[in-house]
Amino acid sequence: MKYSGFYKLSIEERLKKIEISDGEKKTITDSGALSMEHADKMIENVIGTIHIPLGIAPNFIINGKEYVAPMAVEEASVVAAAAKAAKQTLPEGFTADADSPVMIGQMLLAGIEPADAVKKIEENREGIMALAKEKMKHLEEYGCGVIEFRPKIIDDMVVINFHVNVGEAQGANMVNSALEGIAPLIEEKTGGTAAMKIISNLATERKARATAVWKKEVVGEQVIEAVLRGIKFAKLDIYRAATHNKGIMNGIDAVAVATGNDWRSVEAGAHAYAAMNGYKPLTDYYKKDGNLVGAIELPLAVATVGPAVNSSPTAKIAMKIAGIKSSGELAMLMACVGLANNFAALSALGTVGIQKGHMKLHARTIASQAGAKGKQVDEVAKILANEKQFDVNYAKKILEGMK
Ligand code: MEV
Repeated sequence: MKYSGFYKLSIEERLKKIEISDGEKKTITDSGALSMEHADKMIENVIGTIHIPLGIAPNFIINGKEYVAPMAVEEASVVAAAAKAAKQTLPEGFTADADSPVMIGQMLLAGIEPADAVKKIEENREGIMALAKEKMKHLEEYGCGVIEFRPKIIDDMVVINFHVNVGEAQGANMVNSALEGIAPLIEEKTGGTAAMKIISNLATERKARATAVWKKEVVGEQVIEAVLRGIKFAKLDIYRAATHNKGIMNGIDAVAVATGNDWRSVEAGAHAYAAMNGYKPLTDYYKKDGNLVGAIELPLAVATVGPAVNSSPTAKIAMKIAGIKSSGELAMLMACVGLANNFAALSALGTVGIQKGHMKLHARTIASQAGAKGKQVDEVAKILANEKQFDVNYAKKILEGMK
């Protein structure tokens, strides 16, 4: 594997290993990659930019192709956990698939008699579809367009769900604009008011799935039993299910942030999907031929184009490093990372506990906060971890002793 032992390299060596140009290297290491000027055009009242670490988790073989997961996250262990769990699936890796990029846009009709409004909508179905298609005609060459619409009555209102193929985009702008363009015709035909026109973040038509096998001879019987106990706990207890899913989203959000995607919409979609039949874990596990099979399914409305991705030069480079060419590929990678992080969490929690690995990494942060540089960081961190003393002042004392 190209990235084997990547964690042992220095930052400089790592940058050499990932295939990007010198200019891209500079962008990625330059803390001003997102300029103030650019940031000022993205949101309001800008006073600065904020930085979080960007790492990569190698070892993701998905449907036979090698990917590297770019992950932007402030929490120690998340990247290492994803990389380790992915490595434990090798050489087969993951099997994954993603639906077509279809989003649901919702139009709420008020001030009508609901059954009568639905009847009028059905009578004008052809005209509404024609206008809907017209509103997205300029995007047809990107595979985008309205596919169908479904009206339904909710109390004294009608909601029309439009299914829209959004191509490589996340789709919010595209869907919201199309809905606003169609609304006047629907108001005219029904006599009602199109009171709300907005995309739904519960992207049930745009799900990604992944499975992987963790072999008994690789991870051991104890880990398999621990993961099976963990999933049972999450299925039976909502307090555990929330944390279980948080661990999945640790990985998924990290890839979303690294690739400039809207992680709030990904989060909203994931948790709403988990709650569709009573809040449940987003993964499942079972034993087959003595090995552990893990599976994940969730909506993943992510983009490779659009304002969010384009606004970050680092996100574009991250996408390139990952080897991602389409939003479907990105969704598959995210599903695999989520599954990997979940497997890693369940196997650690059910065996040695997560604090051991976590504190080992945390010790490095403390060592560098104390002023350790280069090799000193690992040396000081090792002493802190061995002595279970995670204290900056103690780390400073160790450093002084070294001098
Ligand atoms: C911590 O960020 C994530 C975990 O709590 C996930 C889990 O409990 O499954 C370790």
